[in-house]
Amino acid sequence: MGRPPTPRILLHCFLFGSLMDSCSLTPAAPVRSVVSEVGNQVTLPCCWKEHLPDVAPPASHVLWATPAKTVFELWGGRVWQAEEFQGRAEVPQETLLSGNCSLVIGDVQIGDAGSYESFLVLDGARSRKTRVFIQSVRLSVLDRKSTQSRAPGDDFVLDLYTSHALRVVFQARNCSAWTDLWMRGDGDGQRLQKDPLTEQLRMKRVARSDEGRYRVVDQHGLAVNTVQLSVERSGEALRAQQVLGYPGPAASSGETSKRRCWALLVGSLLLAGFRVLLPPQ
Ligand SMILES: *[C@@H]1O[C@H](CO)[C@@H](O)[C@H](O)[C@H]1NC(C)=O
Ligand SMILES: *[C@@H]1O[C@H](CO)[C@@H](O)[C@H](O)[C@H]1NC(C)=O
Repeated sequence: MGRPPTPRILLHCFLFGSLMDSCSLTPAAPVRSVVSEVGNQVTLPCCWKEHLPDVAPPASHVLWATPAKTVFELWGGRVWQAEEFQGRAEVPQETLLSGNCSLVIGDVQIGDAGSYESFLVLDGARSRKTRVFIQSVRLSVLDRKSTQSRAPGDDFVLDLYTSHALRVVFQARNCSAWTDLWMRGDGDGQRLQKDPLTEQLRMKRVARSDEGRYRVVDQHGLAVNTVQLSVERSGEALRAQQVLGYPGPAASSGETSKRRCWALLVGSLLLAGFRVLLPPQ
């Protein structure tokens, strides 16, 4: 036991050390959880080296699947993506060789939520393939919700968040029905315009009648973003008040109490003066 470490042990240490640097997941979590808001980029973690220190891609290849189907495969330089992940899913090749088989999903959708599993497929001789399970990941994707307020005449910008946002529906205040407001591919209207570069919809010059709930919906009818809009005049009212010369509420109380202070002081001085001037009785 007192012998110096052999080169083999040193090599293992080196491999283990570099493994920790390049890719390490605590083995305590057999199922990892990833939570993201819709439209963001998410990384589903995966480290193949901990499971298979001796087998490296390209002798093997990476596969990601949901319980229903295969969603991603990478072998050699070739990539296969399921239809709904076209152009959105990748395992970066540069990190793959260092043991990192994480799946990066761009523009994540509400419908992407669910269970994912990664495998290393060993490309054996005579087309015999073995699948080695690597990692289970549970992905949750959250929609967005907010409350916003505009003054009448202001513009209201509604974030669509994703290129997969298909429609916007509107529920007016005091009204239970939802009406169609916008659909992808619509030309710009008088008041409603889609920004050509960003996923945003601009509504010009909002009025009281624009108050209500705006919901961005994707192609599966799932809510992406819900905004409760109120159109309030309070800002305008305050400005008008200031123009008319009314003091603001904060300033007024301070000013009044200061004035009252001065009045008391002057009053008592005058009283004292009178006492001096009046002849003693
Ligand atoms: C693995 O690769 C992904 C995507 O490139 C990266 O975000 C992640 O940080 C890497 N994980 C580790 C442990 O290095
Ligand atoms: C509309 O709803 C508000 C509360 O959100 C209520 O105060 C108001 O009376 C309602 N107006 C009408 C016309 O129903």
